[in-house]
Amino acid sequence: MAEKLSHIKLLVLLVLSISVSYTEQFQSSQTQTLLRIQHLLNYPPFLKSWNNVTDFCNMEPNSTLTIVCYEGSITQLHIIGDEGAPRLPNNFSIDSFVTTLVMLPSLTVLRLVSLGLWGSLPSKLTRLSSLEILNLTSNFFHGTIPPEISSLTRLQTLILDRNNFTGGLANSLDSLSALAVLSVKNNSLYGSLSDSLGNLENLRVLALSNNKFSGEVPDLSSLANLQILDLENNALGPRFPAVGNKIERIVLRKNEFTFGIPQEVQSYNQLEHLDISSNGFVGPFPASLLSLPSIAYVNIADNKFTGMLFEDLPCNPDLDFVNFSSNLLTGKLPSCLRPGSRNRVVLYAGNCLVSGDNNQHLISFCKNEALAVGIIPHHEKRKVISKIALALSVTGGIIVAIIVVGIVILVVRNFIAQRAGHEPPSRFVEENASTSYTSKVLRDARYITRATKLGALGLPAYRTFSLEELEEATNNFDTSTFIGEGTHDQMYRGQLKDGSFVTIICLKMKRYHGIQHFMPHIEIMSKLRHHHLISSLGHCFEYYLDDSSISRVFLVFEYVPNGTLRSWISEKQIKRKLTWAQRIAAVIGVAKGIQFLHTGIVPGLFSNNLKITDILLDQNLAAKICSYNLPSLGEYMGKEHLQSFLSGSNDLKSARVNHQDKFDIYDFGVMLLEIISGKPLNSRNKVEVLKDQLLSSIIADDKLRESVVDPVINRSGSDESLKTMIKICCSCLNNDPVDRPSIEDVLWNLQFASQVQDASRGDFQSSDGSPISPMQSSHLKLTIKQ
Ligand SMILES: *[C@@H]1O[C@H](CO)[C@@H](O)[C@H](O)[C@H]1NC(C)=O
Ligand SMILES: *[C@@H]1O[C@H](CO)[C@@H](O)[C@H](O)[C@H]1NC(C)=O
Ligand SMILES: *[C@@H]1O[C@H](CO)[C@@H](O)[C@H](O)[C@H]1NC(C)=O
Ligand SMILES: *[C@@H]1O[C@H](CO)[C@@H](O)[C@H](O)[C@H]1NC(C)=O
Ligand SMILES: *[C@@H]1O[C@H](CO)[C@@H](O)[C@H](O)[C@H]1NC(C)=O
Ligand SMILES: *[C@@H]1O[C@H](CO)[C@@H](O)[C@H](O)[C@H]1NC(C)=O
Ligand SMILES: *[C@@H]1O[C@H](CO)[C@@H](O)[C@H](O)[C@H]1NC(C)=O
Repeated sequence: MAEKLSHIKLLVLLVLSISVSYTEQFQSSQTQTLLRIQHLLNYPPFLKSWNNVTDFCNMEPNSTLTIVCYEGSITQLHIIGDEGAPRLPNNFSIDSFVTTLVMLPSLTVLRLVSLGLWGSLPSKLTRLSSLEILNLTSNFFHGTIPPEISSLTRLQTLILDRNNFTGGLANSLDSLSALAVLSVKNNSLYGSLSDSLGNLENLRVLALSNNKFSGEVPDLSSLANLQILDLENNALGPRFPAVGNKIERIVLRKNEFTFGIPQEVQSYNQLEHLDISSNGFVGPFPASLLSLPSIAYVNIADNKFTGMLFEDLPCNPDLDFVNFSSNLLTGKLPSCLRPGSRNRVVLYAGNCLVSGDNNQHLISFCKNEALAVGIIPHHEKRKVISKIALALSVTGGIIVAIIVVGIVILVVRNFIAQRAGHEPPSRFVEENASTSYTSKVLRDARYITRATKLGALGLPAYRTFSLEELEEATNNFDTSTFIGEGTHDQMYRGQLKDGSFVTIICLKMKRYHGIQHFMPHIEIMSKLRHHHLISSLGHCFEYYLDDSSISRVFLVFEYVPNGTLRSWISEKQIKRKLTWAQRIAAVIGVAKGIQFLHTGIVPGLFSNNLKITDILLDQNLAAKICSYNLPSLGEYMGKEHLQSFLSGSNDLKSARVNHQDKFDIYDFGVMLLEIISGKPLNSRNKVEVLKDQLLSSIIADDKLRESVVDPVINRSGSDESLKTMIKICCSCLNNDPVDRPSIEDVLWNLQFASQVQDASRGDFQSSDGSPISPMQSSHLKLTIKQ
């Protein structure tokens, strides 16, 4: 028994002695590590006192040096050098430094500030897997932030300010679920912000200022704890960021935000500091901001905010700083902001306010500038003759549903219109206007594919129109220019100063809708530009100056003068029928238009319910689709949809999976059928019958074919190309969408048909024998060979 006991004692002793020596060893290794750090940092003065007998765990913490131990292990290391400390000499190695640091595996807090550290941050730093706070402010790190940093799952604070990190923020930040502070100010980071930022549920501070980030700010509204959003001095925009209503500080200064302040801002009850100066914001300034319950700082300087201020506007008594300078505000400074009422700073130079000082512009300046974005006081409603031609509807102030643009009606469009594309906008205000936001939209590569750019060649740039300009173009919306009307809209024909004709659609709004409600829609409109579409040319907003709402939206489209495709093929009283070659050229144009609707914009527009009467011909007989299926703004305003719209995730692939793209193929087949048969087809039954006849005519003799096919073709078309066309037509009309060809297949076959036709005879005679002018034929050829 005694023997046994002594055995146990021995064992305990052994264990004790092992653990003691272990701790000693451990501590001495920590000491060595710190001394090595001292060496690697080139013995800075504030570490001079360190030596092999320093008791690191029991040092008095001070502002330059703090070491915290827990059970003998170092858990916190703070070394703060002198501000502006120079870069360490060339023999410094960040790799050796980090290799040394990771010998302190219990570190939870690491703060190495202003130490002159340089190099690219080695990813092995992530071996410090207990890290909760990492602060590397004011060093000389360069290269990318290692994406491995997202494996530090305990990280709560990541501060990399004032270095020279480049590249983007990792996409995998979501795994940092504990992150509360993310600050990368004053670096050279660039690229768009990852949506994964929106998943950092615990984030309180997001500070990205003084970098080169660009593009939209991802939706941050699910970050319920976000208090500080600092995006100053990047290239972000144009949409105001969506944040939760615990936000206290929003700094968007010096970016490319333009789309106005959203309604939600009115619910930011904890917002103290709002700095959105030096952006391109347009639209009315919501004066209710001044009376938010916590607001103390408002800076909207250097934008294009419009609207009228009133003397009796309320403000929060705690408001200390207001800078309205360099906007387009009119009216009177609210008396609660007058100097003297409190020790506050109020700046408002460079507006059109009524005030004693001479730092204000004349009211006409603000009016003219405002016109550049279509802001105008009340306008009386004008009488119009009713004559429905267009089905545009507006519900609840929001443009809704399918926009069918420009059915029919179109007179001669001048040649000057074509030249207009190469001329800069003629007036100063217009130029100004178009740079304000739409050009940003167009510049943004995400919105414009190569196809769009190529297809839109020759069209004048999308721009903002001033109301004045539209009034001039329509002789004050004179009834003689009226061409049609829907429930909430009217359509006019106008002639711009450059001589070109346009179609102007005027949508009357119910009140209480700000610019931001319309911008997503406008964005879509601005992308609908292609040689084979009736393209959008621009828009104009009309505001009420006395409240923050839009009264009318004007959409400006091309005006195409030459009648519908049917009117050139199968209408009763027809002046001149298209030859076979011209017909092929026209349908190639239509197919290109469809291809653009499917693939040239994101998300694509499918199921456009196309009819031959929706195809207009311009003066060069180029076909343009004038009716397409535009999803409603209401739909787009749903967050999910908007998201997928902006990210382009609702794409062609999914449409192809459920054969949405094949509905347009069928409709296209019906058009081909009418072009081949020369007979107006208005019922599905008729289509089926003709299709069957055509099908059998391919195998049968020429006699049967001649009876089905338009006689014009029998005179002007080659047999080979006709056969090809009949085959495409019938396969487009397959009852099972799966069996219908893709639009690319269709295009290929059409182009083949056109080539064999060209080869067989250069037929540039119209059917009535009158030669078409050389210019027109060369254009036609061009279209075919594109
Ligand atoms: C770097 O070079 C300096 C002298 O130029 C020397 O004093 C220092 O010890 C070197 N540091 C390292 C880490 O080798
Ligand atoms: C902080 O403490 C370290 C060592 O204890 C010492 O070398 C340093 O000079 C101190 N710094 C200040 C600012 O007191
Ligand atoms: C500490 O350093 C001194 C000289 O730098 C040396 O003489 C001494 O042996 C060292 N002590 C230990 C315990 O390493
Ligand atoms: C990070 O370091 C900087 C510079 O010393 C300091 O201003 C900041 O408060 C630190 N942040 C945290 C969370 O430690
Ligand atoms: C930061 O890095 C970029 C690219 O590497 C370089 O052009 C720039 O000069 C660096 N800036 C500083 C302050 O070191
Ligand atoms: C951060 O960058 C901005 C702009 O480049 C500069 O004005 C500012 O002084 C920098 N801040 C610090 C603390 O270096
Ligand atoms: C207010 O805004 C104007 C215009 O941007 C600017 O020049 C001025 O410095 C600003 N004043 C303050 C105190 O920020």
